[in-house]
Amino acid sequence: SYPVILDCDPGHDDAIALILACASPELDIRAVTTSAGNQTPEKTLNNALRILTLLGRTDIPVAGGALKPISRELIIADNVHGETGLDGPVLPDPGFKPQPIHAIELMANILRESETPVTLVPTGPLTNVALLLATHRELHEKIEQIVLMGGAAEAGNWTPAAEFNIFVDPEAADIVFKSGVPITMCGLDVTHRAQIMDEDIERIRAIANPVANVVAELLDFFMIYHRDPKWGFKGAPLHDPCTIAWLLKPALFQSQTCWVGIETQGTHTLGMTVVDRYQLTNHPANATVLYDINRQGFVDLLAERLENYSEI
Ligand code: BDR
Ligand code: CA
Repeated sequence: SYPVILDCDPGHDDAIALILACASPELDIRAVTTSAGNQTPEKTLNNALRILTLLGRTDIPVAGGALKPISRELIIADNVHGETGLDGPVLPDPGFKPQPIHAIELMANILRESETPVTLVPTGPLTNVALLLATHRELHEKIEQIVLMGGAAEAGNWTPAAEFNIFVDPEAADIVFKSGVPITMCGLDVTHRAQIMDEDIERIRAIANPVANVVAELLDFFMIYHRDPKWGFKGAPLHDPCTIAWLLKPALFQSQTCWVGIETQGTHTLGMTVVDRYQLTNHPANATVLYDINRQGFVDLLAERLENYSEI
């Protein structure tokens, strides 16, 4: 199976990405690290511990990362994810403790000790991954690829130009996209097509095991923010689980390989991912950009994997 480290800021969709990953025998989850983003670093760390406790996966090493972006103040998305960062379901208290080391150190230790290169899956702001890349050049060759949720070729969701994860720490995103490590960008172009509808939530609830119930309740809450007609959505975009779905079933997606630059200066465009779709620059390609998904196949994958939790 595929060694991965998940770096996340749970967050409803991050939690569902963790749940999907833990239900997938193709993935060997070596660690879960947490970034500040959807909520404060204390809360995102606590939420990762609570989700893994729910799943009975207290064997996975967890560590908290940077307390704030590289050179800016933290912005949180409590308008989307609520006061706890995972408002909605009742979750267990953490049944285990995080490792007594920084996320960057945990990631570095795992990469150093791994015989095969490891895939990093960041689904929050890129602060931890950027600091790892900047401080451990010798470990770049131990990173197979970075499959991240962030960015948008078309429109942003936090500003007209920027997606939340990139906007929170554009300097970190800049380091990651310039690193030379192979990147898959799972941005809003694809995640806005990965919408989960009311009937999908009912299908998940009907699986009727404790984990599927929590997913349904997470989605009930996550729906609230996305029901605003300004988005033009029928459901809620399930951003972060798209990274895991890409690892499990790439055939569900359409992609294009091209250059992506990060705007770290712009007056109106700070945090924009500038995607050179039409090869208008001479910059060599640095990313595989996902732009479409077989939505039904994605929902089926999630529902099938949630059935695996009927055993626990
Ligand atoms: C991203 O921002 C967060 O609110 C979600 O968890 C996702 O990672 C979407 O823009
Ligand atoms: Ca996230």
